[in-house]
Amino acid sequence: MAAKIVAGNWKLNGSKVFVQQFFGELKQLIDPVQMDACIAVFPPAVYAAQVADLVGESGIVTGLQNIAAHHEGAYTGEVSAAMAQDAGCRMALVGHSERRTLFGETDEIIAAKVAQGIESGLTVVACVGETLEQRQQDSAAEVVESQLAGALKDVTSGQLPSVVVAYEPVWAIGTGETASPEQAQEIHALIRRWLKNQFGQAGADISLLYGGSVKPDNAKELFAQADIDGGLIGGASLQPQSFAAICNAVCSDG
Ligand code: PGA
Repeated sequence: MAAKIVAGNWKLNGSKVFVQQFFGELKQLIDPVQMDACIAVFPPAVYAAQVADLVGESGIVTGLQNIAAHHEGAYTGEVSAAMAQDAGCRMALVGHSERRTLFGETDEIIAAKVAQGIESGLTVVACVGETLEQRQQDSAAEVVESQLAGALKDVTSGQLPSVVVAYEPVWAIGTGETASPEQAQEIHALIRRWLKNQFGQAGADISLLYGGSVKPDNAKELFAQADIDGGLIGGASLQPQSFAAICNAVCSDG
């Protein structure tokens, strides 16, 4: 069975003081060790070591929002998966739609990042999702399948325990417009089928996260869908109260 995960993507937000206050509060609100879900936070890279130190043995996992497609060398400004691991990270997002559209990441670059992440011992969260235009043209399924094929092209069956997939319809990211539970479930079921066809049962056991304007008041209904194993949370992950409420919503007793 796929593990439940709630992951907070802070994007370009935060500071040393914010990190300190956020986890001070979050730790009062949830105890991930007691939860039947993995709770992860993805701060900007410069704060990753601070977050990893602060969360310590609390059960909260630290991740990077992006990793380099290369291991080391003359790549100014990049941070490698091995460095993320060294700084205390255990996960990394790869191919977020903002990376694809604002920073020109192609399927090829994303596949290289997935490989780097896995080789360095990280769990990679490969992000896929269609734009509004693609949905209106009825090509959401096709786009998502082609992004999956691109991102996971070099992944072997043995590496699947290190892979998570996040479905984030671009039209729902940061817009306040969430996919309905039925719309999200439809694509999640398609992703599960695709992974099963490709990799067999181990593919079907990959955790599938929904992302795009998940809030405390819609999380429970989304997470109740058969093929939604958790969420990738942007805006609502910046407030300990709302992030904690979403974390609780994924738990069986939440
Ligand atoms: P949002 O972002 O929750 O603010 O819509 C989700 C994401 O981009 O991961």
